[in-house]
Amino acid sequence: MMNAPQAEPFKIKVVEPIKMTTREYRMAAMKEAGYNTYLLKSEDVYIDLLTDSGTSAMSDSQWAGMMLGDEAYAGSRNFFNMEKAVQEVYGFKYVIPTHQGRGAEHILSKCAIRQGDYIPGNMYFPSTRVHQELAGGTFVDIIVDEAHEPDVNHPFKGNVDLSKLEKLIAEVGAKRIPYIHIATCVNMAGGQPISMANLAGLRELCNKYKLRIVLDNTRTVENAYFIKEREPGFQNKSIKEIVREICSHADAVTMSCKKDSLVNIGGFLAMNDEHFYRKAQSLCIIYEGLHTYGGLAGRDMEAVARGIYESVADDFHIAWRIEQVQYLGERLIRAGIPIVLPVGGHGIFIDAKKFLSHVSQDKFPAETLAAALYVESGVRGMESGTVSAGRDKKTGEHKYPKLELLRLAIPRRVYTNSHMNVVADAVIKLYDKRKALKGLKMTFEPEEMRFFHARFENL
Ligand code: F0G
Repeated sequence: MMNAPQAEPFKIKVVEPIKMTTREYRMAAMKEAGYNTYLLKSEDVYIDLLTDSGTSAMSDSQWAGMMLGDEAYAGSRNFFNMEKAVQEVYGFKYVIPTHQGRGAEHILSKCAIRQGDYIPGNMYFPSTRVHQELAGGTFVDIIVDEAHEPDVNHPFKGNVDLSKLEKLIAEVGAKRIPYIHIATCVNMAGGQPISMANLAGLRELCNKYKLRIVLDNTRTVENAYFIKEREPGFQNKSIKEIVREICSHADAVTMSCKKDSLVNIGGFLAMNDEHFYRKAQSLCIIYEGLHTYGGLAGRDMEAVARGIYESVADDFHIAWRIEQVQYLGERLIRAGIPIVLPVGGHGIFIDAKKFLSHVSQDKFPAETLAAALYVESGVRGMESGTVSAGRDKKTGEHKYPKLELLRLAIPRRVYTNSHMNVVADAVIKLYDKRKALKGLKMTFEPEEMRFFHARFENL
């Protein structure tokens, strides 16, 4: 923690009061929500760790920028500010704004994927994979095996296993691979970073086969901090320099600005290839909006532009952000709580299979834990396990994923370490009482994306 400031590198100018509730109140609220934390009303939540997406606190500069929104239909000055920020910070020539990350994934998939193609990636993010499949492609996981093992401690669990990629190329041929989609700080693996050396190795291999690399740039600033902390040769480089170097290995990026860029809404697709840009621009107009707003208001683009600069303006911002997550992780590790190791960039992922080892996977241990944590403390997390995995289309059975996790994602600049202490205390208390939890029974099961709407009963 070389660069971490002693306390928050900001002071609080505006506050949002949160409702304090009793255990009885939360029990009733959880029951009404069918034991699914997605169905809770946010006003009933004390500390909301459902996601780190779009939940950041914006700075005074970003809010001031919102007043400078140029809401012209075409050529808004805020678009040019956003374009310049992407060019300067990430180093891509052409920028297409989108309403959020999945808008960029949609356009990319439609532009580049043909029926029967394969798209390798270091694990998948659900929206990314769905867009690849809708365009006729098949996702292939080429992440290192360690990423699938919750308690294997490896500094760069987001790395690509280059031999898996070579094997795929040998099997299907490079022509069937339109691009490789690589994420920084891999969300589904627990916010685990990729190393610069691995990215450089991937670039070399891709050059050999003339393959393009598209980066899921959503958490690149967070990834840069881990490179600075863990990879030899980067200690004296700034986060800004490391971010730029990460991007230099990619041909294009998709981005959800709702994470690293500290905004509530926004995204983009950026690239260096003019032909790809022209094609993507046309699709943007059809699906998102004119190519100088892409589904965003002028004020939103201004907040994005300012957020991008802020995220790399100094190293203290990101050091504090990551170290807050590490702080919560360390407290849980010290108490013997089973979590994904090492602690990732944007949240804590509790291993529900181990935490509730007496609850079988058909009784949804991660969902059970999410519901119980809310009742215990008013803290809301998100299931990432059997409910999210869905059913096997062929057999109709639940898919039982290796990782059955409760994610506690930390919003940026929103909570203090006192809140983190409340979270840690609640998880530890629940661990002592874990044998009382018996699991859940699903009483309503939607066909698609069941984790958003499914309802349960307590067993
Ligand atoms: N890529 C990654 C790695 C993500 O984590 C997300 C969103 C997206 C793409 C899609 O971006 O939401 O702006 O359309 N992740 C959120 C989460 C939803 O809770 O982890 P989006």
